[in-house]
Amino acid sequence: MRQKFFVLGITAFIITSVLYFYFNIGLFLLVILSILLLVGLANSMQHKHAILRNFPVFGYFRYLFEMIAPEIQQYFIERSTDGKPFSRNQRTLAYQRAKNIDSTSPFGTQLNLNRSSYEGIKHSIFPATVNEELPRVLVGGPDCTQPYSASLLNISAMSFGSLSENAIMALNKGALKGKFYHNTGEGGLTEFHQQGGDITWQIGTGYFGCRDDRGSFDGGRFAEKANLPEVKMIEIKLSQGAKPGHGGVLPAAKNTEQIAKIRGVQPHTTILSPPSHSAFSDAKGLVEFIAKLRLLSNGKPIGFKLCIGETSEFELICQEIMVQNCFPDFITVDGAEGGTGAAPLEFADGVGMPLEPALIFVNKTLVRFGIRDKIRIICSGKIISGYSILKAVALGADMCNCARGFMFSLGCIQALRCNTNECPTGVATQNKMLMKGLVVTDKSERVFYFHKNTLHAANELLAAAGKKSFTDVDINIFMRGDEFTHLSDLYFPDNLKSVTKH
Ligand SMILES: Cc1cc2nc3c(=O)[nH]c(=O)nc-3n(C[C@H](O)[C@H](O)[C@H](O)COP(=O)(O)O)c2cc1C
Repeated sequence: MRQKFFVLGITAFIITSVLYFYFNIGLFLLVILSILLLVGLANSMQHKHAILRNFPVFGYFRYLFEMIAPEIQQYFIERSTDGKPFSRNQRTLAYQRAKNIDSTSPFGTQLNLNRSSYEGIKHSIFPATVNEELPRVLVGGPDCTQPYSASLLNISAMSFGSLSENAIMALNKGALKGKFYHNTGEGGLTEFHQQGGDITWQIGTGYFGCRDDRGSFDGGRFAEKANLPEVKMIEIKLSQGAKPGHGGVLPAAKNTEQIAKIRGVQPHTTILSPPSHSAFSDAKGLVEFIAKLRLLSNGKPIGFKLCIGETSEFELICQEIMVQNCFPDFITVDGAEGGTGAAPLEFADGVGMPLEPALIFVNKTLVRFGIRDKIRIICSGKIISGYSILKAVALGADMCNCARGFMFSLGCIQALRCNTNECPTGVATQNKMLMKGLVVTDKSERVFYFHKNTLHAANELLAAAGKKSFTDVDINIFMRGDEFTHLSDLYFPDNLKSVTKH
């Protein structure tokens, strides 16, 4: 191929030169050919890229098509029910709800309902009236002195660092208007989070915002922020579904001077939050840490977030809770299908339990230990519609968190560039120019409406099922469409149907 390139290239170069010198035409072509020949020569001599060595100019087309493949896929090939992690239909629904425009769908379902995996709600012949009030849940167990009335749907953990400052500000302003909470993510509580909205402050293994000079947990620094009035709850992050057991990654490109200062680390270096905590290393230590944070925060709700892996370890935590008689106020269960800014593919695709079995397990285990009534279960993992909220509640959740749905409300187009600092919508980038595209005042309204309209849709489904309150929901309102069997038989073959009622 190289030979052909040089033979054809040099021949074309000679012909064009002759034309130019004798007839004074083809100067532009001559310049282009000279550049291509020089580029080709350089490529054929380099040792790094085999494709460019063999195809000194045409090889570039491969890189170009590779680069724009996701866009071609999304714009020209993807069908409404395709697209991953979220289908076009799911994304459109989120955009419409965020823009507060008509989100109805025409002409009937595009899904094939006559398939064995179809699941649906068993609506009532006598639907209830739709609640106009959006549902709330009180969080605070027996040891909590500052319980918090939370919305049923909230913004899941996403750090400043993985998201831009404009994105964080828009999320928090939206949370303020809609009266729901905004989880800071493990990157620390920053000025951008402090726009007046309720905050759940997440403490990860890096202890950003509450660490001493050696990177260990600092109780004094923690107390300063934990006692701010806007901090309503504190969440200890043990793991997240997209990369359980891996820790956090802030790519060097996103670690700006500003972020490094907030986190107390070196700028422009890749920052790894270690996989495990240095403040504790077992179930006993975790429960003691919960007690410590509760004391330091003067009784605010304290909980932990995890993706379920080895189930016996979770049972050990429950045992320890009983032994120490110290209850977390909430447990956030993140499914393995959860999102992230950056994770190794092996972890994203092959580690941890998906949300549905994880929720069932956590709920059942808390019931078995007789502590379910003292602890709220929050869940996350592709909760993006009213249907997914109702299903999560039916499987045992008290409340839901949503990350990527709120990213869509900010304008995210699922460009899959969160780990490159080149997010074209200014959501998941630290590039000042790109983030200028995200106008805080406009997008905060969309955050507000996405929350409001999604919860309203959940209220409508609740009413269609003939229920008045989310506490009346259990798995018995769902069916398997093909067999007309109850989903409870599938999820609870051991007949523990009533675990979702408390
Ligand atoms: C850009 C991005 C950043 C995230 N950062 C964090 C984080 O700092 N801490 C955490 O516990 N989870 C983090 N997550 C996970 C989400 O909080 C959530 O658990 C997960 O994405 C599942 O929710 P979803 O399906 O609604 O996105 C992040 C997710 C995304 C997409």
